[in-house]
Amino acid sequence: MQSMHYHNPVLLQEAVAFLAVIHGSKYIDCTLGGGGHTAEIIRLGGIVLGLDQDPEALSACPDLQGLTKVRSNFSHLTEVAGRYGFSPVSGILIDLGLSQHQIDSSHRGFSFQKNGPLDMRMDPDLPHTAATLINQLSTNQLTRIFKDFGEIPVAKHLSQKIVSQRPLTTTQDLLKIAGKWSQQAFQALRMAVNDELGALNSVLPQAYELLSPSGRLVVISFHSLEDRIVKIEFKRLFEQKSVTLLNLKPLFGEKSAKLRAYVKN
Ligand SMILES: C[S@@+](CC[C@H](N)C(=O)[O-])C[C@H]1O[C@@H](n2cnc3c(N)ncnc32)[C@H](O)[C@@H]1O
Repeated sequence: MQSMHYHNPVLLQEAVAFLAVIHGSKYIDCTLGGGGHTAEIIRLGGIVLGLDQDPEALSACPDLQGLTKVRSNFSHLTEVAGRYGFSPVSGILIDLGLSQHQIDSSHRGFSFQKNGPLDMRMDPDLPHTAATLINQLSTNQLTRIFKDFGEIPVAKHLSQKIVSQRPLTTTQDLLKIAGKWSQQAFQALRMAVNDELGALNSVLPQAYELLSPSGRLVVISFHSLEDRIVKIEFKRLFEQKSVTLLNLKPLFGEKSAKLRAYVKN
């Protein structure tokens, strides 16, 4: 059963306040989803380029006046922004992770609480699903994923169990094997399938370059590994006097959300 709402935007007022929207100025929403944050930016007079790599998000997001929707991974931010004349911009928002709609859609395989195929691709054209990784990687490769992205202390044992019982095809197959580590195992596989940390590492310097002076970047992350990347990049820019941090400690929201923001000097 699908939820009634596509996604309830996290830290909505806070994120948009940090963007300090200027009427008639250009903004990029790197993670459009159902367009909750974007709708608020537009209500305040901003003009928005909204990216999402999931075509379901692009169809679900309303066609608002002042919004250009583009299907793309945000790792291609510079190219996409240039193509649509959004360079430079006054603000960029990155609201990482999954929408509630993606989690609730059992056929996407993101949730261990719903039975579905082991897919987990945000972009359905990606070549490898979670099932491909689970059924084809070596024990050592799986162990790396569970250790690095899931911080699972029994990563090796879990990988050996998986390898001895494959092929696995459904989320419930994995749930049965992963047991109390299911949440971490699902998260680790999702991060690997979508190269989530790679995309984040790639987008942050691009976002900085695209901002005009006094332009603002707001990043909402949901995982300590993501927040660490954001924190380190923000610190680097701060130390070279390229940005002013808007909050020294992250702002916390629901579902362990952490918001960090800066103004370009
Ligand atoms: C938390 S939701 C965003 C919700 C949105 N702010 C709203 O108010 O509805 C994250 C969205 O970003 C998309 N996404 C995640 N990583 C992405 C990436 N690397 N490139 C493009 N879109 C991405 C997901 O498909 C998902 O729709």
